[in-house]
Amino acid sequence: MPGVCRALVGMVIRFVTPVGTIGRGCPANRWYSDGGARRSQDDGSRGNLDDWRASVAQQCSGNSRLVLALASAFAAPCLHLAGQEGGGLHLRGPSSCGKSTVLALAASVYGPPEYRREWRASDNGLEGVAALHCDALLPLDEIGQLDPRHAAGAAYLLSNGQGKSRSRRDGSLRAPATWRVLFVSCGEVGLGDLIAEAGGKLRAGMDVRLIDVPAEAGAGTGIFDRIPDGLTAGTFADGLKVSASRHYGTAFPAFLQCLVTDLERARRFLREGTDKLTRELCGNDSAGQVRRVASRFALIGCAGALATAYGITGWDQGEAERATRRCFSDWLNARGGNGEREPREMVKAVQLFIELHSEGRFSPAGRAGDDRAQNTKPRRVSLRGRIGTDRTLVLPNVWRTEVCKGFDPSAVARLLVERGLLIPGSSGEFQRSERVKGTGEKVRVYRLAAGILDAEA
Ligand SMILES: Nc1ncnc2c1ncn2[C@@H]1O[C@H](COP(=O)(O)OP(=O)(O)OP(=O)(O)O)[C@@H](O)[C@H]1O
Ligand SMILES: [Mg+2]
Repeated sequence: MPGVCRALVGMVIRFVTPVGTIGRGCPANRWYSDGGARRSQDDGSRGNLDDWRASVAQQCSGNSRLVLALASAFAAPCLHLAGQEGGGLHLRGPSSCGKSTVLALAASVYGPPEYRREWRASDNGLEGVAALHCDALLPLDEIGQLDPRHAAGAAYLLSNGQGKSRSRRDGSLRAPATWRVLFVSCGEVGLGDLIAEAGGKLRAGMDVRLIDVPAEAGAGTGIFDRIPDGLTAGTFADGLKVSASRHYGTAFPAFLQCLVTDLERARRFLREGTDKLTRELCGNDSAGQVRRVASRFALIGCAGALATAYGITGWDQGEAERATRRCFSDWLNARGGNGEREPREMVKAVQLFIELHSEGRFSPAGRAGDDRAQNTKPRRVSLRGRIGTDRTLVLPNVWRTEVCKGFDPSAVARLLVERGLLIPGSSGEFQRSERVKGTGEKVRVYRLAAGILDAEA
C-alpha cells in the first residue's frame, strides 16, 4: 500500500492511501487508485487481521529484530504525531541470516511482498519512491547494490524529506517533492562501508539518520533470538516468508483506523512514552547523537506498544519495548559507547595513518633529506620517526591533505592537544618548529606524542 499521505483537517487526521482514505468523515469503502504504482492485482491485502496476527506477528514474539521491524511499520505513521524527523534503521549482517525475511515481515503490515523495495535506484527514482511512502514504512533491501558514490546522498535524501529543486521548461522553479518516511533497510554491508568504498567517511549525521543495527542477534541462529521447537533457523525463516506472502495488508489499515479515532490519547501516549523511554535508554551522560538515535528506537517501541494495546499484534504489552531496548543496546555496543562519534573517528584516522605508513612514509631519525623513503615516496611525512616516541613528526601539508582527510585539520589537532596526544608549540599553537638533526634545517611540523598509537579512540 505505497503512497500513504496524511492530511490534517482541523483536528482530524486523514490518511490517504492508494486503496482508501482513513479518517473521520471519510466514506469507509471509497478506494482510490494510485495511478499504477500499486503492483498487485488485489486491493493490497490478503487474508484477515486474525490470520496475520496469528501467522505473522505472534510468530515473531521473543525475536528482537523481528519485533523491531514490525514495530517500525507502526511507528512510520506516528512520526508526525510524536514530532520526530524521518530516518531509518539498517540491519547489517552476513548472507542468509534472515535479513530479507525480516523486511518481508515488516512489509506484510502494509501489503504484499512486493511492497518491499530495493536500494538500487537513481536519486530521482528514490525521490519518487520516498514520496510514495510518505508517513509510511519504506522497506529497502540490499544496500550493497547501491552505487557507493551515491550512498551518503541517498541516506540524506530519504531522511531529510525533500527532493531536489528542479525548474520547469519556462525556467520557473517547481516545488520539490517532500515526504516523511521511516525506512528499514538491510544488507551485508553498512552505510559506512559503502561510503568508505567510495573513499569517503561516515559522518555522525549520517549515522544518526540511518541507524546501523547488527542483524545477528548473538544466539548463533542469525537474525533470530529463538527458534520454535522442532524447526531450524532456515525452516523458521522460510515459514515466516510464506506466512508474510499469504497474510498481509490488514494490520496497517486496522492500526490507522484506531489511531484516527484515538488521536489525542495516542499523541500523548507516544510523546510521553517516547520521552520516558529515551531517558531510560540514554541515562544522563549520553552524547546528543546517541540521544537522537535513542528517541527513534523509543518511538518504535511505543508505536509497537500502541499497536499491541489496539489488539493488532497479539504480543504481551512489554514485547515491543523489550525488543527496542535489546536492539538499542546492541547498536550502542557496536558503536563503541555513548560518546560523540567524531572525536573517536579523528583519533582512529591518525592512528590508522601511522599504522599504514610507519614503514614507508616516516623517515629514520635525523635523515630527513636523504632517506630511502624520501626517494621512493612522494612526500616526507616525518623528519625522524621512531614511531611510539614523542618525536613522530608530520609535515603540515601531509597533515592537512592525508592524515586528517575528511576532517577539519585544526579540529583534529585541537582534540589531540586536549588529550595530550599532540605536543603544541611554546605559545600553544598546533604546529611547532623543529630542527632537523644533521642538516640543522628548521621546519614547521605537527609533533605527535608517544601515546598516540595506544590511545583509546
Ligand atoms: N538465521 C538463519 N539461519 C540459517 N539460515 C537462514 C537464516 N535465515 C534465513 N536463512 C536461510 O537463508 C535463506 C535466505 O534468507 P534471507 O533472504 O532472509 O537471507 P538474507 O540475510 O537476506 O540473505 P542475503 O544477504 O543473501 O540477501 C532462507 O530461505 C533460509 O533458508
Ligand atoms: Mg537478502
